[in-house]
Amino acid sequence: MTRKPEVPFPGTIEELGTVGDAGALAHYSDPAYYTKTYGKRRHDVEYYVRIARKSRGPVLEYGVGNGRVALAVAGAGVEVCGIDLSRTMLDDLEKRLAAGPPKLRSRVELRHGDMRNVRLGRRFPLVIAPFNALLHLYERTDFESFFARVLEHLEPTGRFVFDFSIPQPDDLARDPERWFGAPRFRHPASDELVRYDERFDYDQFRQLLLVTTRFTPERGKPWTIPLTHRQLFPREVEALLHYNGFADIEFTSDFTETPADRHTDSAVVSCRSARRGSRA
Ligand SMILES: C[S@@+](CC[C@H](N)C(=O)[O-])C[C@H]1O[C@@H](n2cnc3c(N)ncnc32)[C@H](O)[C@@H]1O
Repeated sequence: MTRKPEVPFPGTIEELGTVGDAGALAHYSDPAYYTKTYGKRRHDVEYYVRIARKSRGPVLEYGVGNGRVALAVAGAGVEVCGIDLSRTMLDDLEKRLAAGPPKLRSRVELRHGDMRNVRLGRRFPLVIAPFNALLHLYERTDFESFFARVLEHLEPTGRFVFDFSIPQPDDLARDPERWFGAPRFRHPASDELVRYDERFDYDQFRQLLLVTTRFTPERGKPWTIPLTHRQLFPREVEALLHYNGFADIEFTSDFTETPADRHTDSAVVSCRSARRGSRA
């Protein structure tokens, strides 16, 4: 089991909130735990497979992680190119691909790098950034760089689709000193029983939520993992897209393809380049 974050955890929300720092990477330093925690989340995977099939591919996935979405897309016969900042998650995906059929492997191409910088010199009919990948962009300039890269990789009639959790006032208002407990779980790599609590610290000026997870095994020392998520408000997302060259911006609700509204948890956003082509 990899417990050590790729970058050390300095401790507070004031010191976090930079792309590539501990708050952006540590949560992805234990792929076995990630898979156990999110493996049952299927509704978004089914949605992305549906739109990938419709596009006929190839699909560019930003924040591909260890392939929760990409493996399903490739399994449906669509080629995927995945970019991720976490070497650990990509190594795990490579392992999963090596254990699968060669046909699956041949449909997946991976690139280690930052979504704000990587230039592939190719265009795609569909670019996706599933499961809150954009919440790891913290400043306006991060969004500007990332959206410029997306536009460079979109075919003239291509769509850019991503989802993000809408900020919940209750989560943002939690006492940052208080730990919220959750049931114990068996760690998939070590097989030890581990207690799990979380603490939420929200910086309302920078719109950053630091979720610190504390793991306490039955034997051995506890360890903590930070996760910093930029809180994105829907009208802010619409403005960022509009002023960075996107048009035809649609918000739908929780992967149901119905319009988003005040009850939506995950907003699914679909848009295209304002300059290139007409709607796909
Ligand atoms: C919540 S995970 C999503 C993984 C996968 N798409 C899924 O749905 O399970 C977000 C991913 O974004 C990656 N990430 C964070 N910041 C990034 C950046 N600046 N550039 C590329 N990838 C990044 C993380 O390493 C992580 O694998």
